[in-house]
Amino acid sequence: MSIAHKMEEFISRSSWIRKMFEEGAKLKAEYGAEKVFDFSLGNPNLPPPARFQEALVAVAEEEAPGVHAYMPNTGLGETRRAVAEFLKTEQQVSISPDDIIMTCGAAGALNVILKAVLDPGDEVISPAPFFVEYGFYADNHGGTLKTVPTNADFTLDLAGLEAAVTEKTKVVLINSPNNPTGQIYSAESLAALGKMLSEKSRAYGKTIYLVSDEPYRKIVFDGIDVPSIFHAYSEAILVTSYSKDISIPGERLGFLAVHPDAADKAKLLGAMALANRILGFVNAPALMQRVVARLQGVQVDISAYARKRDLLCSGLAECGYDFVQPPGAFYLFPRSPIPDDVAFVRELQKELILVVPGSGFGGPGHFRIAFCVEDETITGAMPGFKRVMEKFK
Ligand SMILES: Cc1ncc(COP(=O)(O)O)c(C=O)c1O
Repeated sequence: MSIAHKMEEFISRSSWIRKMFEEGAKLKAEYGAEKVFDFSLGNPNLPPPARFQEALVAVAEEEAPGVHAYMPNTGLGETRRAVAEFLKTEQQVSISPDDIIMTCGAAGALNVILKAVLDPGDEVISPAPFFVEYGFYADNHGGTLKTVPTNADFTLDLAGLEAAVTEKTKVVLINSPNNPTGQIYSAESLAALGKMLSEKSRAYGKTIYLVSDEPYRKIVFDGIDVPSIFHAYSEAILVTSYSKDISIPGERLGFLAVHPDAADKAKLLGAMALANRILGFVNAPALMQRVVARLQGVQVDISAYARKRDLLCSGLAECGYDFVQPPGAFYLFPRSPIPDDVAFVRELQKELILVVPGSGFGGPGHFRIAFCVEDETITGAMPGFKRVMEKFK
């Protein structure tokens, strides 16, 4: 065998999202792209805001010695200063540029954190359903992912989380607004989680970190605010990126920010800066760092995603689907009308509708619809959604 046994196994159970995307490509070749309703990928369909293009051009024209050179592993000072200024308002904390590390997307940030804090056999706890790559990221750094089901409305099951924490727990990893459910965790639930983690950390004589993965923080509807984890717990690390909120996932830029009062902060930041380097990222993309330094507070037109959510929710409710209306992100996670979500997804596929089985996210009995698509894809798919639902009513 040419590749590692573990990778053979990972490939065989790797992302349902990719599988559906690849099957979608086949269907599109067979039937024509316009006949296929592809809700499989969380690839934002809105273009980046006009100011992104302007900033990109301006930065490209500012040739100066060293602009393409290696830099400190934590990122450019000007960018971290701009991010810190923005976070002071967004998070209502007094954070310094030195508390921030620029990363290759949220995915890069999560790997940097786990590399820095996990010892072999340590556990990372995450509420389920969850972003499926978390399991691979924990494994990348010798850890294991342990999942705890959320409540039926996808809010945090605090008692379940508490029962799952052991002396092996090093990280509790949450994601709000959530992929795949769109749920946002309340300030009260975060405060209770923070209190529980302080008590457990004290009881086990170690630090359990709370890592909050928030690439969808700015994609929220109905005027809802995403509460800051920094007000819930001091051993907290915020992770985010510009992938979704300015629609540049291919550019690979994000950052992590450590709570200004975290104990052992200097050591933690030093370990993460080194992890950024030795994981092979070295530093986050230079050009994009200079661009986003000018774009703090800029985001895509969220009202377009709100419209798509409403179109999808009203259409599916009329067909008889059962779901929790998502307050954020661009995903809907309806209940499958039959227990076997994979079989249900196959039925939708016969109507050329591509969605992802909930089992792929640790949420069996559901399926995920990524509604970052054209409005016409949503309206065009409704008759198919209806016909499939009628088969199982
Ligand atoms: C919950 C979650 N975390 C992390 C990522 C990775 O994002 P990035 O492109 O910023 O690495 C994604 C991407 O879809 C995601 O949904």
